Formats: sequence, C-alpha cells, structure tokens
Amino acid sequence: MKQEKLFSGKTLAILSGGGDTPAINSSIEAVRNRASMLGFKVYGVQRGWKGLLGDGDVVDLTNIAYNGIYGGTALLSSRTNPFPSKKNKEDRSQQILRNIERYKIDVLVTIGGDDTNGAAKKLYELYGIPVIGFPKTIDNDLRTHTLHHYQGNAYETVLCPGFPSGALAIKKLTSKLHTTNESHQRIMVLEVMGRDAGWLTGSALFGGAQVALIPEVEMTQERKDFFFEFVKEKYMRSPKRSLIIAVAEGVRWWDSEKQKLEMVYASPDLDEYGHPRFGGISGVIASEISKKTGIEARGQISGYIPRSGKCSEYDRRLTSTLADKVVDLLLREDYGKMPVMKDIVPYSELEEYHTTAIEMGNIGNFPLPQDYYNPNEFYFSEKYFDFLTNILGAPYRMEFNHEFPIVIPQ
Ligand code: F6P
Repeated sequence: MKQEKLFSGKTLAILSGGGDTPAINSSIEAVRNRASMLGFKVYGVQRGWKGLLGDGDVVDLTNIAYNGIYGGTALLSSRTNPFPSKKNKEDRSQQILRNIERYKIDVLVTIGGDDTNGAAKKLYELYGIPVIGFPKTIDNDLRTHTLHHYQGNAYETVLCPGFPSGALAIKKLTSKLHTTNESHQRIMVLEVMGRDAGWLTGSALFGGAQVALIPEVEMTQERKDFFFEFVKEKYMRSPKRSLIIAVAEGVRWWDSEKQKLEMVYASPDLDEYGHPRFGGISGVIASEISKKTGIEARGQISGYIPRSGKCSEYDRRLTSTLADKVVDLLLREDYGKMPVMKDIVPYSELEEYHTTAIEMGNIGNFPLPQDYYNPNEFYFSEKYFDFLTNILGAPYRMEFNHEFPIVIPQ
C-alpha cells in the first residue's frame, strides 16, 4: 500500500534573485530533491521576485531531472525588489501575496543575498509568509554568523555558497596570468568583483598575486604615495620582475583632480536595491602605477569569470549540507530562518552537524574583518590564509623556474 508522505498536498516554491553564482542550480537541486522526498510538490519561480508579480511565472520542478553541477540559475534571476525603493517607489508586495495564494504556495525558499532575502524577511515579518532563506553570493558579504576557529580562538566570519566556486575561479585565473605577465616583465592589475567587500579579491593570493587592495581600506592620498613606492620595490625585488596586484572592484581610490576618494563605475544607474555597477578601477590604477613608477602596467578585469562555469566540489557539498538543514526547518515548521554553516570546515567535514539556522532578521552585510588584511603590507593576513585554506586547499601558482646559462661571444 502506498504510504502518504508527511507533506503530501503541500507546495514548496524556490526562487533565486540577484547576481547568479555557479552554486545556485546545485542549491535548487538539493532543496528540490529533499522537499520532494518529504512529499512536497516543488515549484520554481522564474526571474526571482519578478516571477511572483503580475500573472506570475512559475514552473513545476517536482519530477524534472535537474543538473546542479551547471552554474548560473536555470530558474533565471533578476534584481526585482517588490518593496518600494529609490528606483521604483511602487509597493508591489500585494502582488506577491496574491500569487502566493493563487499558486497555493505553502513554503517559499528564497536563494539570494542580502537583497532577495531582505525582501523575504519582510514578507515573513509583515505578513507571516512561511519563508526559508538560502544564502548565495560570490561576494561572501552576507552575514552568516559562521565561526572561524584559529589558534585556539573563535572569530566571526562568513561563508556563502557561490563564494567557494568564485574563489576557485579567481585562484585558477590568477595562476594562469603569471605566464603572460612574466613574459613581458610587467605589473598586472587584476580587478575582482565583490562590490564593497574584499573577500573574493583575497582568493587571488591563492593563485600567486603578490599585492592586494580591498574596499574596506581607503586608498587616501598618503596611502597611495606609500603604495607606489611599495609596488616599485616589490617589483624590483621579484625574481622575474613580474607582479600581480589584485584589486577589488569597489576600491576607494584618491582622485587627485577631484581631491576626493572615488569609486569607478561601469554605470552609475542604480538597480532596484540601490546598487550602482562597478568596473574599471584596474585600468585607472595600472595607468597611475605606470606614470609613478615608470614600470609598464596593465589592467585586467576578471569580470564575470568567477560567476561562470561549473559548481565547485566544495560548493556542491556545501549546498547539500545546507539543504539538509532546510529539511530540519521544514520538519519543525520553523520559518523566517536561513541555514548557515556554524563553523568553517574543510570539504571532508561539510555535514549537517556543522550547520545552524539564523533568524532572517539577523542577516545583513558583513565586510572583510580587519584582521584578515594587513594594510601596511597590502596583503592578506595568515588568518585569512587559514580561512581560505579550508575552502581552496593549498595555494597554487603556475611556475617555470629556469636559469639559462649566459652565452658570451668568443
Ligand atoms: O553581487 C554579485 C556581483 O557579481 C557583484 O560582485 C558585482 O558587483 C555585481 O554582482 C555585478 O552585477 P551585474 O550582474 O548586474 O553586472
């Protein structure tokens, strides 16, 4: 006799919002598999919150094969904010409520960063909608209340699915850049996404970047002067006369003409959550380095590379682990929460035992902690290396070490 499952007759819907990451499909697959095993009908809401506006745009995922290894999000994404914002003053939350009712959605799982989950939190707090937030961002700047155990103490840190895949991509990309850079004995300024946080920029060190600039430490006029001297010396001392400088896209850089700190934008237009789009700081820094030091420098924007491609193994297991915690929340009907890692652990220890659930009221942005970066060395600290080693393993740098005998004409 066929047994009724616990949640038979109930519907769980999943949506993904904000910038994509290589780990979203993996998160969707992991949540879908578990929810359907519990008996839920599983829906996918397309294009984030946009799929619950107007007539709605919802698909059935219950019995569809889902490829979680493939990056991006098959449910599509948008930066739609259903609540009033500077860009769009209209409050569209009633449309969301109406569609939740029309599609008979009992539980909503929102895969996103601070913005998407911030809207989910409001729906839960204002209207009691049963939501479960699921963290996601390559920027790793969403407060997850995770602990980093280091030298006998525990420190607050962050771990968001998507960051491990993005960090791995930046590690690999930086490692490759050495070959071209060494051939021309240049300084390469590699720009890395991450908005107002330097977490992702740090992963370039695992590919052999020797210097890094982050948004959390302003590059004032004094610091810039010191930086140019520092860079010149570092370059002259490097055995191959080659230097890779990783810079976060959101670095605050002193503009001598305007006499103020500036950020470089690809577009000043704001999205519905009030964010502009960064892009281009690497070119500015490279050209100033060339002028000040006389050393040839180039800018390289890594752009969407860390957001593209396959989900990393670490992320794959991380998303499954957090989805296990989603099951726990569903069984307890414990909503308005987000599953997170309690501790930073290496791949082999990613398991539900190390997870917990935080109130969605306690999320928000979390920049890189001060002691993860050493401003005098323009480099990340040992502590950050320890944090990243859990996720990325050992640093790797492509190298061809040679010592050619010099030929003297006879
Ligand atoms: O938040 C993720 C992120 O990739 C940021 O690092 C970056 O600044 C932004 O999204 C880019 O957004 P878009 O996809 O709209 O260009």
